[in-house]
Amino acid sequence: MSDIKLDDIVSLAKRRGFIYQGSDVYGGLSGTWDYGPLGVALKRNILNLWWHMFVDSRDDMYGVDAAILMNQKAWQASGHVDTFTDPLVECSECKGRFRADKLDNPNKCPNCGKEGTFGEARPFNMMFKTMVGPVESDAAVSYLRPETAQGIFTNYKNVLDSFYPDLPFGLAQQGKAFRNEISPRDFIFRSREFEQMEIEWFVDPANWEAEFERWRLLGHEWCRALGLPAENVHELEVPAEELAHYSKRTIDFEYDFPIGREELFGLAYRTDFDLSNVARVSGKNMEYTIKGTNTKFVPHVIEPSFGVERALMAVLSAAYREDEQGGEKRIYLALPEHLAPVKYCVSPLLKNKPELVAKAREVYEALKKKHGAVMWDDNGNIGKRYRRQDEIGTPKCIVIDFQTLEDNTVTVRDRDTTEQARVDIAKLQ
Ligand code: GAP
Repeated sequence: MSDIKLDDIVSLAKRRGFIYQGSDVYGGLSGTWDYGPLGVALKRNILNLWWHMFVDSRDDMYGVDAAILMNQKAWQASGHVDTFTDPLVECSECKGRFRADKLDNPNKCPNCGKEGTFGEARPFNMMFKTMVGPVESDAAVSYLRPETAQGIFTNYKNVLDSFYPDLPFGLAQQGKAFRNEISPRDFIFRSREFEQMEIEWFVDPANWEAEFERWRLLGHEWCRALGLPAENVHELEVPAEELAHYSKRTIDFEYDFPIGREELFGLAYRTDFDLSNVARVSGKNMEYTIKGTNTKFVPHVIEPSFGVERALMAVLSAAYREDEQGGEKRIYLALPEHLAPVKYCVSPLLKNKPELVAKAREVYEALKKKHGAVMWDDNGNIGKRYRRQDEIGTPKCIVIDFQTLEDNTVTVRDRDTTEQARVDIAKLQ
């Protein structure tokens, strides 16, 4: 289990411009988080990595981007209106409301400490309800989507009719999801607004087990791509009585976060639950016809469902390091290079030497043009610049000094080893 504390990560994330409390300036809004310049870059790198791995590099996956607001029938058909609930208890003393299945002691209020003040747990629907249009009526009711999946199921037929894919094939989507969590907690781990990366993988029901296994292995590949140590990733076979209403089998991929072992993402066998419900409520045919035959069936679905924030929190937890350099404590993020928000930092050795600054700008601009994620830093002394870049996980710091003016070489310092090498400018990647 990780011995890093969540507070260390939260504090670094705020200090260095990764993640801030949502609406901070107004006292915050519980369960919401805002991403600063480095957080956006890291999040985008994770989203792009996922899209490349599961969509762009395959020819059996189709990307979609459905509207967040959907016809209320989608949520009636999916079962979310009736069953997307968590058990809620209320303390009769302090009126605090809590998720019954997450209490350390089910008889003691964690807010006021009184015992025996909880009544019967009641189901609390986690969907955010809203009205579409200017008239408040039952017909105008919609919800902020609690999962991106339904926007995929509603587009299954559209993609089928436009692209005629062979089975198995998948639809992939990234986007925001919203859940009115009773107790949002643990930084970005459980929030009310978050982002999902979901795949609905349509299969012949006869093959669901082999396809499930295929995606189980790909789940581990994803963890490797994020740079997560394999020994911190675990599979939990979800017991039958705890399965979501749509699932016949689920494996939770768990990670050893600083808060303990918790779900990172899930892999579920959703059967034909969703497509059959879409067919029933919409009256449209959701069958797939095997090409060149009369064999028709409603495909079954394997669903790998990933949360972006949990991936990001796992990446930060895996990368967070403390060591000692020159007798001083150093904090650094050993982020995989492909995820680091800044790839290179470029500095002149001295800020007040115009010839060094001019040369450094030249190097900076060339690298920036090529990589984008390159930072200019001429504040403070070199040691301080290195510390700042270490804390945000910049793999390489490039310094232009007087020797550069003579032989066109620069020093390149490695974040993890802190070693420096002289490299020809022409050889900088
Ligand atoms: N479509 C299936 C589905 O939504 P889920 O297990 O409820 O399944 C999938 O959610 C993933 O979404 C989770 O494994 C987690 O990574 C992320 N997730 C769910 N609720 C979250 C929350 N409140 N805050 C942050 N991430 C969340």
